[in-house]
Formats: sequence, structure tokens, C-alpha cells
Amino acid sequence: MQEQRGQWSSNVGFILAATGSAIGLGNLWKFPFITWNNNGGAFVLVYLVCIAGVGLPIMMAELLIGRKTQRSVVGALKAALGPAWGIVGGWGVLCGFILLSYYTVIAGWSLFYFTRTAGWTMSGFPAGLQTGDLFAEQAGNGALQLGLSLLFSLATISIVYFGVQKGIERIARLFLPILFGILILLLISALRMEGSGEALAFIFRPSFGELEPRSVLEALGHAFFTLSLGMGAMITYGSYIDRSQSIVKASAVIVLLDTLIALVATIIMFSVIFSVEGMPEQVSGTGTVGMLFISLPELFYSEVPFGSLLGPLFYVLVALAALTSTISLLEVVVSYLIDEHGVGRRAATLMCGGAVFLFTILAALSFGAVSGLSNMEVGGYLGQKLFGGKVGWFSLADHFVSNWMLPTGGFAITMAAGWFMTREATRGELADGTEPGWFRYGAWRFFIRFVAPAAVGAIIIAVFLGEDFS
Ligand code: PHE
Repeated sequence: MQEQRGQWSSNVGFILAATGSAIGLGNLWKFPFITWNNNGGAFVLVYLVCIAGVGLPIMMAELLIGRKTQRSVVGALKAALGPAWGIVGGWGVLCGFILLSYYTVIAGWSLFYFTRTAGWTMSGFPAGLQTGDLFAEQAGNGALQLGLSLLFSLATISIVYFGVQKGIERIARLFLPILFGILILLLISALRMEGSGEALAFIFRPSFGELEPRSVLEALGHAFFTLSLGMGAMITYGSYIDRSQSIVKASAVIVLLDTLIALVATIIMFSVIFSVEGMPEQVSGTGTVGMLFISLPELFYSEVPFGSLLGPLFYVLVALAALTSTISLLEVVVSYLIDEHGVGRRAATLMCGGAVFLFTILAALSFGAVSGLSNMEVGGYLGQKLFGGKVGWFSLADHFVSNWMLPTGGFAITMAAGWFMTREATRGELADGTEPGWFRYGAWRFFIRFVAPAAVGAIIIAVFLGEDFS
């Protein structure tokens, strides 16, 4: 029996689900870190330009391809552009598969830190505990890592299992307001700290002298990741929109909310860091994981006003943000099986969720638990080009996805919407009587034909020449 294809129950439901996909570890984990590394100010400004000039047009392109064809990524590209484009769709499905497999591991850490901080709230922060050691211990504990990522995978699977309206949309409606609420509480508390002025200046006062050319490309690469572009998540979510909803308005809201949340998260974290002497130096030394999982846990108990309540809430926030992203990743893979191979949703969810988890196991054990996975390298010319000489399963996968898969997928999508689809075909979706007054179809077309491909092309060339954006 053919099941009916899913559809969002309302515009708000769709916007919340898509915003949930966009807001994730990219906003809370990656963005603050790269803003720190690139000296804030000018980098943030460049990032905003990339989001508006490249991210927004591609967001519209993905949603329009989805809504027009009412199919998931492989079928959508085939239907809109011809059978050969199925390959680009397949690339997207593969990308969703790999990204989900390792994203789940970091998401699992939020569960660990939630239970730890909740414990400290009850019985006090243990004297003499080194949070750097705690991090290494948990990351290197194979059984713990497997358990955490299994829990997170099960949560993801059990939502997608119930479908578009009863699963994904319902969870987004419930969790996003909670997520916004927690962020506001954290923001209020952070702004009362003495470092908040310095933090705001760091983030918003541009000094272009410190901006390196590679920062521009890094900002651009991150725009893809944070908006869930380049691999068909937005094509898939777009395929459940009905014709009465405005793609232009929805895209603008999603992009704005994602950007706002990234900035608020950064203000919160930097306010804390700048309030503590010696902390800026420590953060610079601990890499990507440092801020979220090494510096912050302790500071909640020593520095942040109401920190013993906000600490556990902060990790709830990370978990919810990650979960609304992992469900969109799994949905890309699941909807492909449903649409292209006629598998029922429930069977498809269990099959895909299970298959992805097999690879999650490899990522989960690559933080010290299994040395073969943790020290894995791909040698030679190709290894260097494709994996940037990274070490460990997790880093290899992340490098390949962030540097190669998302930009090449995004490039193909800009080409598809800008050059291969006819003007009438895209116009019919964007300028359809639902578009807001500020929208000019001609402007979108210019950005998607020229600006976006040039920008994304530059990332791909830079990566080829050895730049690393993961
Ligand atoms: N946008 C998500 C984040 O910022 C990651 C993601 C990428 C989710 C691609 C879905 C698809 O964390």
C-alpha cells in the first residue's frame, strides 16, 4: 500500500522545523570557535555578508526545488533537471549519511555534560577537578561513547519514525520555544557579567587589518554548514511545503533566526570567557572542543550568575539544538528510500538509522578509545587532498564533508537553479503572489547565477590548493 506523502501542517510548523535543522552544533560549537580564531569583528561582518549574499539565495533555491517537485533530494533533482542529476542527489544522501554518523557523537557529549552538571548542581563542583582531564576521560571511554551516541541515535530515529507532521514538526514546535527560552535566560545572565562589554566589542567592532583572505572563505564554508545547505536537507524539507506558503519569506525567517542564535550564543560564551582572568589564553589553547566542553562547565559554577541552574540548562540547549538537526539529516536519507524505492516510512527509518549507527560506532571510538580509529590517517597525495592529512576517523569524516561534500553539492545546486532550470520554472516558485515586497526576482537570479557560484567555486579551489575549513 502506498503511504501518503508527508506535509507540514502549517507555515509556522515548517519554519520551526527548518530553523531547527539550521540551528545546531554549527551555531553553538563551530561558530563561536571560528569567530574566536578569526579575531571577531571583521570576520563576523564578512560572515553576515556571506549569509545574505550566498546562503539566502541558495536556501531559496533548495526550497524551491523541493516544493516544485514534491520529492526528496534524488527524485527532486531528477524531476527538475533530468535523470543525470540523480547523481548530485545521491551525493547529498551520502553526505547526510556521513554527517549524521559523526555529528551524533558530539551531540552525545551534551548528554554526558548534562548529567555531570546536574550532579554538580546538587552536590557542588568537585574541588580540584580538572575539566580538561574530565573531557579526555569521557571522550576516550569507548563504552560511554557508544552508550551516549546510541541514546542520541535512538532519539533521532524515534522522531523520524513518526513522520513529517507527527514526528519532526511536533518536536520542532515543542523544542524550539524551549531552546529560545533557555538562550534568553543565558543571555540575561551573561550580559550582567563584567566581561560582556569586551565580548560585544570583540564580536561587533570590526578591525579589517586583522582579517586574512582565508577567513572570508571560512565564513562562507560555515554559511553552508550552519544553514544545512549543500546536501539536500532543505530540498527535502521544501518538498513538504504546500503551494500557499511563501518560500521567500520562509527563507528569510530561517536565515535570520539561525544567524541571531549564532550571535547570541557567541555573546554568551565570550562574556563568560572575558570575565575570567587568563581564560582567553586557555580557550585559545584547547581547540574546537575547548570552549563548550572544557572551559564553560567549570565557569558555570564559579563565575556565571545563577550558573548552577544555567549550567545543566545550557547542555539541554545543546542537546535540543543538535537533535532538531540530526532529525533533518536522517530525514534526507529516509525520504530517499521512501520516495525512490517505495519503502514504508517505518521500515525505512529503522533501516537507515541502523545503517548510520554502524558508522557512528567508528566515530564514537575515534577519540582515544580504539587507537586504530583514533590514529587513522590516509596517506599519499589523495589523502592529503581529500582529508587534509587529518588524523582519526572523526576528523577525516568531518574534513571530507565540510570541505568537499557541502561545497561541491552547493555548487551543483546553484548551477541547477541558476543555469539549468529555466527562468519560468524558478520564477513560478518564487514570484508566485506570496513573495514579500522587498523581494526582487531579478536580484535573486543574479545572485544564484553569478555571486553564489563564484563564491562557492572559490571555496572549492581554495580547498583544492590545501586550505582547510573543517
Ligand atoms: N545546520 C546544522 C548545524 O548548524 C548542521 C546540518 C548541516 C544539519 C546539514 C543538517 C544538514 O549544526
